[in-house]
Amino acid sequence: MEQTKLLKAFDPEADSENIALAAATLAAGGLVAIPTETVYGLAANALDSAAVGKIFVAKGRPQDNPLIVHISDLEMLAPLVLRVPEAARVLADRFWPGPLTLVLPRSEAVPPIVSAGLPTVAVRLPSHPVARAIIRQAGVPLAAPSANLSGRPSTTTAQHCITDLTGKVDMIVDAGPCPVGIESTVLSLMGETPRLLRPGAVTLEQLQEVLGRVEVDRLVLQQAAAEEPVASPGMKYKHYAPRARVTLVQGDDAQYAAYVNAHREEGTFALCFTGDLPHLAVPAVDYGPKGDQAEQARRLFGALRLLDMRGARWVLARYPSQEQMGLALCNRLLRSAGFEVVRL
Ligand code: TXA
Ligand code: MG
Repeated sequence: MEQTKLLKAFDPEADSENIALAAATLAAGGLVAIPTETVYGLAANALDSAAVGKIFVAKGRPQDNPLIVHISDLEMLAPLVLRVPEAARVLADRFWPGPLTLVLPRSEAVPPIVSAGLPTVAVRLPSHPVARAIIRQAGVPLAAPSANLSGRPSTTTAQHCITDLTGKVDMIVDAGPCPVGIESTVLSLMGETPRLLRPGAVTLEQLQEVLGRVEVDRLVLQQAAAEEPVASPGMKYKHYAPRARVTLVQGDDAQYAAYVNAHREEGTFALCFTGDLPHLAVPAVDYGPKGDQAEQARRLFGALRLLDMRGARWVLARYPSQEQMGLALCNRLLRSAGFEVVRL
């Protein structure tokens, strides 16, 4: 790809021309980075194997890591799956459009490359108006992983997409920062009990409220053993990683500050809550107030990228609470740290 076009589309109506261009590029088999409410997605026509193949090349993504298929309207679901379990209907009714991905039995309509050969397909109906307008106009479901180079922090602004994907995709659609900031919750409905594969903005507590019992995959907060089979292949890869080494530090305000300040070496940075800033004697990037998980989610990936730009070599990151959306923050931070945690 020689040139990557950058288009703005903040509003489906005012920016309808740019949305039409993005949709036409996708319908013609092109690659377009599109905004969603969670993170930017690197989209292609999910029903076109050749187009989907280009996603793996552009990202440098391992072929065995399946993609999420994005739909704009509930009517698009049925052709993609063999059946829609009752739980899926209830969840769609409550959480779609929104940041929830359901793993369901894949129909023949979905090319195997989308699901890395698995008999399942992950489907999501995003709430971002620009994402929905693009899918609707393209007239096909879109396969889209997060629009980052494989292994790097996910992209939550068009600038992040420009950094990772210029020259690798046909188009980047800028709709400003993503309102959620971390990827969707992934829930498998393939077994008897629904199984949380990746926590996100739809929380475990919310799912339990609707479904009763929900199993949490061991890999949500733990590392896969070398050859362990995993339910969600994405969980075995190093992820969300800045170039710097990241260590998670679990403790209260005073313990965290004392630990960080005892490690004042060249290249050491803190990734902390806003309230920690005045107490730290090393350069620091904050990712939101301690009590505001939504803000922490919005800022986390940008903060990891900023640490790289500021030349951090070792990042001492504050471990967030594990409740509600905190489970998703812990899941991402643990992976970016390669599971290195200091407990004080
Ligand atoms: O919010 C999101 O989900 C974003 C936006 C763009 O929609 N997308 C996203 O895609 O995060 P990606 O590819 O970065 O992460 C998808 C995750 C991976 O961990 C993958 O292994 C898992 O979902 N996944 C996809 N299809 C699956 C399937 N059939 N069975 C189990 N896990 C699946
Ligand atoms: Mg990703």
